[in-house]
Amino acid sequence: MTPSSSDAVRLRDAHIGYDDVAVVAGVDLTVRHGEALAVLGSNGSGKTTLARGMLGLATVLGGDVELLGAPVGRLRDRGRVGYVPQRHTVSGAVPATVREVVSVGRLARLGLFRRLRAADRVAVGEAVAAVGLADRMEEPVASLSGGQQRRVLVARALAAQPELLIMDEPTAGVDAASQDALAEVLGRVSAAGTTLLVVTHETGPLASVLTRAVVVDQGRISYDGPLAGAETGHGDHHCGPEDDGARAGYRMDQPTVSARSARSLGGR
Ligand SMILES: Nc1ncnc2c1ncn2[C@@H]1O[C@H](COP(=O)(O)OP(=O)(O)OP(=O)(O)O)[C@@H](O)[C@H]1O
Ligand SMILES: [Mg+2]
Repeated sequence: MTPSSSDAVRLRDAHIGYDDVAVVAGVDLTVRHGEALAVLGSNGSGKTTLARGMLGLATVLGGDVELLGAPVGRLRDRGRVGYVPQRHTVSGAVPATVREVVSVGRLARLGLFRRLRAADRVAVGEAVAAVGLADRMEEPVASLSGGQQRRVLVARALAAQPELLIMDEPTAGVDAASQDALAEVLGRVSAAGTTLLVVTHETGPLASVLTRAVVVDQGRISYDGPLAGAETGHGDHHCGPEDDGARAGYRMDQPTVSARSARSLGGR
């Protein structure tokens, strides 16, 4: 059996939900260091709940959830994990600039009350440039468009240079050129060894980066294998690596996964 320290994410019979109600049930999932995983599934299937459970933002009602070898909520250095939430509102009360918001991501790595040093400012600048917003650095985030604000959140996560990057719909509402730019950045951080877990309805732009997919269907994992297998629609309760896992590293050039095809996995 593989020791847990070798895995970036490890769920065993995980039940995750809100209050006492499990939305995600009986999930087994292991993501090894350096893997790039797509989490697919129809609206309301539990993808966000699954991601939030890993981060301690939704309640783990049963089973085991480990991130980077630590039980959920016990990871001391939170900066090792980056997170791009699906929904956010940038509060207008305190007008934070792009630089300030992205710097918060860097502070997460340093720990509270540590000052940013030159290297940190460089990391912040690089993260903002990576999402194509270098020329908006000093602008209030609230004055940016929705898609630009999502890109700020991606930069905030990148700035920490996390070992594990969990992104919930990072490309939603983001234009094609920026999606391509994001794919390039994610390709780079993936090549550098960062583990990626990306919830998405649009694997197209990220197909060259994401090699493995799980499909969440009504709170359970109905498919786990190469991204292409999820796309062909044969993932109907076809779980486990028995046939497809051997093809890890598979890449696809003409991705067609969409919310529509993901929905079709659950039956017509
Ligand atoms: N904060 C919450 N409190 C109670 N129930 C919630 C909460 N957030 C989500 N749920 C419920 O959990 C279920 C799954 O929601 P979730 O957001 O995980 O789905 P999703 O797969 O991410 O969907 P989408 O593709 O629309 O983002 C839904 O039925 C939803 O109503
Ligand atoms: Mg969601």
